[in-house]
Amino acid sequence: MKWWQNAVVYQIYPRSFQDSNGDGIGDLQGIIKRLNYLELLGINAIWLSPVYQSPNDDNGYDISNYQAINAEFGTMKDMDELIEKARKKGIHIIMDLVVNHTSDEHNWFVESKQSRDNEYREYYIWRDPVDGKRPSDLTSSFSGSAWEFDEESGQYYLHMFSKKQPDLNWENPAVRKDIYEMMNFWLDKGIGGFRMDVIDQISKDLENNVTNNGPRLHEFIQEMNQETIRQYDVMTVGETWGATIDSGKKFSDPKRNELSMIFQFEHITLDEQPGKSKWDLKPLNLVELKKVLAKWQVELGDSGWNSLFWNNHDTPRIVSRWGNDQNYRVESAKMFAILLHFMKGTPYIYQGEEIGMTNQPIKDISEASDIETVNLYRERLELGYNKEEIIKSINTKGRDNARRPMQWDNTQQADFTTSIPWLSVNPNYDRINVKQALEDKSSIFYTYQQLIKLRKENPSLVFGDFKLLLPDHPAIFAYERTYQNETWLVVANFSEEPTSLSLTDQSDKSQLIISNSTRKSYDLSDLYLEPYETFCIKK
Ligand code: NOJ
Repeated sequence: MKWWQNAVVYQIYPRSFQDSNGDGIGDLQGIIKRLNYLELLGINAIWLSPVYQSPNDDNGYDISNYQAINAEFGTMKDMDELIEKARKKGIHIIMDLVVNHTSDEHNWFVESKQSRDNEYREYYIWRDPVDGKRPSDLTSSFSGSAWEFDEESGQYYLHMFSKKQPDLNWENPAVRKDIYEMMNFWLDKGIGGFRMDVIDQISKDLENNVTNNGPRLHEFIQEMNQETIRQYDVMTVGETWGATIDSGKKFSDPKRNELSMIFQFEHITLDEQPGKSKWDLKPLNLVELKKVLAKWQVELGDSGWNSLFWNNHDTPRIVSRWGNDQNYRVESAKMFAILLHFMKGTPYIYQGEEIGMTNQPIKDISEASDIETVNLYRERLELGYNKEEIIKSINTKGRDNARRPMQWDNTQQADFTTSIPWLSVNPNYDRINVKQALEDKSSIFYTYQQLIKLRKENPSLVFGDFKLLLPDHPAIFAYERTYQNETWLVVANFSEEPTSLSLTDQSDKSQLIISNSTRKSYDLSDLYLEPYETFCIKK
């Protein structure tokens, strides 16, 4: 077994985790200060969203120097200290590898832009105008065209994200060599691996408008593996929005020497209207959700490895999205935790999820910070949408929701900072915070703590086969994991109506492992479940 197979990863969005120097921005010393908390939770690794030097057009996903730390977050000395102190607690640091693009302030791009014959010109993707216009209709994920015109050289460069995030040209071997060197610099520091930002976009076929899963993608990843990660005992997780079972296996089949696992997003897009954007909403259908999750559980088989997650810094908080963050906040948050942790794969917890932090709606666009949100608002206004409609989409799906500061206690600014935070704290910090969670033995925090422990101690949860039960039931999400002589059964009432059901003919009160209720036992032949009531038993 690999160390990351029974591990649980905790994602930190450094800007919002803990400020230590009173500038309103989270930093590395802040994370160091909270390592004891993470140790108590029991996680094995931290995925650190980018902490490199960056002008912050996209909060660090626009890197101007991969081998320097953003001064707002601290210094390389702080980074070394974090890696070392975390290691002593058995916590690996997973760095965010953002190599589909750099910042336009990265030296490579500054050079590349100088002239058509600069030695770095081919580090990026430059094209001549076509009939005096853009080379193609490609659009950026942050609204508008993906091509930006450079007056001086008379060419366009490609940016799949903001115009301050030019795409690197992976076809150029010199680019790949420099990236591998940079990766080895970090690996030699003893990090635990990489989360690879939009890694499925590095190979492109622009003549055919292909920007994802391009023809050389797997070749590049195999080469990267060979040149870097193969020499270290680390984990890698690729962000692959468009992954299918087939490509998922290509990425994560251990025999292929690519990645340890991928983030696939099929389940996360089920409340979007097919063929439209993430902002065009439709209600979640539980039967579909179960089908998609079960497909990934079963079909990857032994030729791949899942990552399990409900939310991250790009998505709304799950308890607000698919649970109920008002009347059943604790119950639904625990349901998500239990459903996730008994599945096959490596679970990821996004900071604050373990205390049931919620989305925080805005009333006006002036309260938004995220570039994606601000651009969307402008674009949709121009297209004739009304303000209320746009704000509704933003409140449901906008990225600021998950990026508000971590709620540590009920004192000023939730103890995140001693000054004004870069993004305002959710006012519910007076009731939802870490201090309160630690004092209440029945809090969401302790459910997570117990689940993480169970994963570490039970190989069945790593290796067991997955079987979905009652696939067509509109309210119950139930599944089994079976390994050797053990069967673990998870049953959740994924709804706000009490639900009765019977799973066996004869009374069966097997050993209760965990639940989100005070009930001491469950009889499988005669179940009555309150809204969001969830349990796991072992047979
Ligand atoms: C995915 C990251 O998770 C997101 O935050 C970022 O904006 C884009 N990639 C571009 O790097």
